[in-house]
Amino acid sequence: MNTELYKIDEHNIDAAAKEILRKAGDIIKEGGLVAFPTETVYGLGGDALNPESSKKIYAAKGRPSDNPLIVHVATMEDVEAIVDEVPEAAYKLAEAYWPGPITMIMNKNEKVPHETTGGLDTVAIRMPNNEIALELIRQSGGYIAAPSANTSGRPSPTLARYCVEDLSGKIEMIIDGGQVGIGLESTIVDLTSEEPMILRPGYITQDMLKEVLGEVTIDRTIIDAASTEKPKAPGMKYRHYAPKGSLTIVQGSQEEVVDYINAKAKEAMAEGKRVGIIGTDATSTLYSADVIKSVGNREDEATIAHELFKVLREFDDENIDIMFSESFDESGIGQAIMNRLLKAAGHNVIIL
Ligand code: TXA
Ligand code: MG
Repeated sequence: MNTELYKIDEHNIDAAAKEILRKAGDIIKEGGLVAFPTETVYGLGGDALNPESSKKIYAAKGRPSDNPLIVHVATMEDVEAIVDEVPEAAYKLAEAYWPGPITMIMNKNEKVPHETTGGLDTVAIRMPNNEIALELIRQSGGYIAAPSANTSGRPSPTLARYCVEDLSGKIEMIIDGGQVGIGLESTIVDLTSEEPMILRPGYITQDMLKEVLGEVTIDRTIIDAASTEKPKAPGMKYRHYAPKGSLTIVQGSQEEVVDYINAKAKEAMAEGKRVGIIGTDATSTLYSADVIKSVGNREDEATIAHELFKVLREFDDENIDIMFSESFDESGIGQAIMNRLLKAAGHNVIIL
């Protein structure tokens, strides 16, 4: 299949851009697939109400079909039309954070096919905060099922070029909207149980949810480094966000971490391995390895979130065999950063 590639400036959706989005919307309405930017990561979109489209999404990503998709909408009325009942908590969260990086799980009605929800009777819904995404949703009939636009298991794409790398030839169109703003996938919160529960941490933190809802718990299995229990979001059980090489997270004081990583890097390089290190602005000059990358200032979590997947992808581009990363504070967005990093490392952590 020939994959068409178009560039659109999110902040200037002119007549030409509208025309591209109309064409992209037609592709989706006809059952085809389009990769597009959101504020979190790029999505691989198909018609959420068409079971055949969802099957195509699983095939293009190489994703297990028991791993449900997120339905992207542009209006609250469109949410009301596909669920049993919109819980009060959903209205509150929507008021506070939609459009934005939060996905809510609700009980679906018969309009949403089980192919889209991986067989579940619940559906994940999100209104993204990106003008290209919102216009595409409107042009596509209102409902776009979109997982992250990567081959299953690889780091989510924060740039269109990574969608091209993973999906070229497999889908009808890729829309390049530049580097995404946030860089980590949305927070997922389950509103179907008594107490709201975070199934995947993200940019909207537990504290931000508590501000709106009061008590909010978190599925511990996804943040405990040592947990072997099965997470509640089916997708969180797979090794994920992973670069091609092996990744080890090293925890300890700055000096201990730098010394340990340098010693291990030296050993691996002596064996002919290519070694990459994920450091921060304060430490990156202290390391020696084939490739050293800083994800920014340790205090600046938004930048670390924004850079993390890109850096993991860049190590792949550089054919790195063995990677080491510093560990990060787990407060605020740090919870999402560490969750993704732990999954990328297959929970491989050294505590000094
Ligand atoms: O930021 C995002 O959420 C991005 C952009 C494209 O919107 N999308 C994204 O989708 O990350 P995906 O498919 O890569 O991750 C969806 C996650 C999976 O872990 C899946 O298991 C979970 O959401 N999920 C979806 N529906 C669910 C449901 N009904 N119950 C529990 N978990 C669900
Ligand atoms: Mg994903």
